[in-house]
Amino acid sequence: MGNTDVAHTDPILIGKGLTKVYASTGSGTALKAAVDGIDVSLLPGECLAIIGESGSGKTTLSRLLLGQLRPDAGQVAYQGSPVLRGSAAAKSLARDSALVFQNPFASLDPRWTIGRSVAEPLLAAGRRGSGHLWHRRQDGTGLADQVAKVLSAVQLDPDRLMTAYPSDLSGGQAQRAAIARALIVKPRILLADEPMSAVDVSARVGILHTFQSIMARSRQQAEPSNGMSMIIISHDLGVVQHIADRVMVLVRGKVVEEGPVNAILNHPKQSYTRQLLAAATL
Ligand SMILES: Nc1ncnc2c1ncn2[C@@H]1O[C@H](COP(=O)(O)OP(=O)(O)O)[C@@H](O)[C@H]1O
Ligand SMILES: [Mg+2]
Repeated sequence: MGNTDVAHTDPILIGKGLTKVYASTGSGTALKAAVDGIDVSLLPGECLAIIGESGSGKTTLSRLLLGQLRPDAGQVAYQGSPVLRGSAAAKSLARDSALVFQNPFASLDPRWTIGRSVAEPLLAAGRRGSGHLWHRRQDGTGLADQVAKVLSAVQLDPDRLMTAYPSDLSGGQAQRAAIARALIVKPRILLADEPMSAVDVSARVGILHTFQSIMARSRQQAEPSNGMSMIIISHDLGVVQHIADRVMVLVRGKVVEEGPVNAILNHPKQSYTRQLLAAATL
C-alpha cells in the first residue's frame, strides 16, 4: 500500500470514454449503458480497486480494459498503443494479463494435480522452461521449479501441494492456487474479479495477505516501470482498503468517486461511498 514512486511513470493501460451497451433481452425497454463513458488509467506497480454494488458495471469495465470485450465507444491503449482487434497491442495485452475469478475451483481442473494446473498456462503459451514437467534443475529453471516458486509466492507448500488435487484443498488454498496459476506467466497486469467473495470469511484475510505480499514483491523491482499492476474488483470497500492504492467507485456504469485509497476512506465525498464503507466486512 502507499506506492508513491509510480507517479512519475506513464500509465501501462489507459481507457478513454469506455462505453458498453448490451443488447436488451426484454422488449420495449430502453437500452442502458452497462459502462457509460468511463476514463481510467493504471500505472505500473499500482493496485486499482473498482468498487460498486452488483450490476454496476465492474466486470464489464474490466473486460473492456483487458481487450476481451469491444467497446461501443471509447478506446483502450496498452503501453501507448491503441488496442484494436487483431493489433499487436491487443496481442501483447492478452499475453501480459492474467485473471483470478470469484470461484477458485472453476479455474482448477478436478482431474489434474495442482502442479499441473498451475503449470498449464505456461505450457499453453509455449513458454515452458527447460526440462521435463516434473524435473527440477540445478539452475532453478525447470518447469517444476517455476511452479514451486509461484506456489511459495502464494504461501502454499510446494512439496505438499504440487501433487494434491483440488478436492484436497480448502477454498482459501484453492484460491491461492488459482493466484499461482495466474502468476506463472509473469503477467504485467493481474485482474482479480471478486476474489474473496466465494471464500469463507476466515480465509479472506489470508488471501488478502497473499495479494499484499505479491504486490510488495512486484514493487521491489529494480525498474519501477516493470512492476506488476493489479486491478481488484469488489463490492466490499473493506476488502480492498488494505491493498489498493487508488479506488474507483461505480454506480450504474458511471464513476461517482475516485481517488487515493486513504482520501476515499477518510473523506468519502459521496453518500454512496459512505454506505459502502458502513457495510465493509474487513
Ligand atoms: N452478457 C451480458 N448481456 C446482457 N447484459 C449484461 C451482460 N453482462 C452484464 N450485463 C448487464 O450489464 C450490467 C453490468 O454488469 P456487470 O458488468 O456484470 O456488473 P458487476 O460486475 O458490477 O456486477 C448489469 O445490468 C448486467 O445485467
Ligand atoms: Mg461482476
